Amino acid sequence: MDMQLRKVTMDDAHCLFDWVNSPSSLNNKKKTTSLIGWQDHVNWLQNRIDHDSVVIFMLELGGVAVGQTRVELKKAGLIVDIFIAEQCRGRGYAVKALTLLKEAVHHLWPNKRLVAEIKQTNKSSIALFLKAGYQQVRLESGFCILENK
Ligand SMILES: CC(C)(COP(=O)(O)OP(=O)(O)OC[C@H]1O[C@@H](n2cnc3c(N)ncnc32)[C@H](O)[C@@H]1OP(=O)(O)O)[C@@H](O)C(=O)NCCC(=O)NCCS
Repeated sequence: MDMQLRKVTMDDAHCLFDWVNSPSSLNNKKKTTSLIGWQDHVNWLQNRIDHDSVVIFMLELGGVAVGQTRVELKKAGLIVDIFIAEQCRGRGYAVKALTLLKEAVHHLWPNKRLVAEIKQTNKSSIALFLKAGYQQVRLESGFCILENK
């Protein structure tokens, strides 16, 4: 499997919009749980692309987008988000993406730890991060906090 990470551009807005508004994305989001409007999404994406503290990567196989992963630099560390398109799940793509993400952000922020804040009910994602080498450090208000140093 030859997966590539490339930084998103505004040309990816439609694809990311469909993904963010899919049930498995909304159900597992930290804050937003209702449908996101197009203009809010465009503003959100432009803002992220313009800021050095955020990187969003498209995950591609042979030039075809299969998902996205994002890191945002916050006080707690580099907060990770990942989404794999539903029809592409269960093939090891998310584990591969988290490995590539670690390599990519290591060059940008060598001394920062990767942190995942996953709803305790999102068992498959907790299993994913554990498989990708993250360790559970604590439970916090219904979230499982995992870190990869
Ligand atoms: C979580 C998600 C990224 C997993 O993507 P994926 O490509 O299917 O994951 P992988 O195929 O790489 O699976 C890796 C491991 O994750 C765990 N896992 C993934 N899907 C699972 C499921 N449905 N049930 C149980 N464990 C699961 C398993 O441990 C799996 O390893 P295994 O196949 O050896 O058992 C995907 O389901 C998704 O996009 N979910 C919605 C968004 C989300 O919840 N993101 C996490 C919050 S940031």
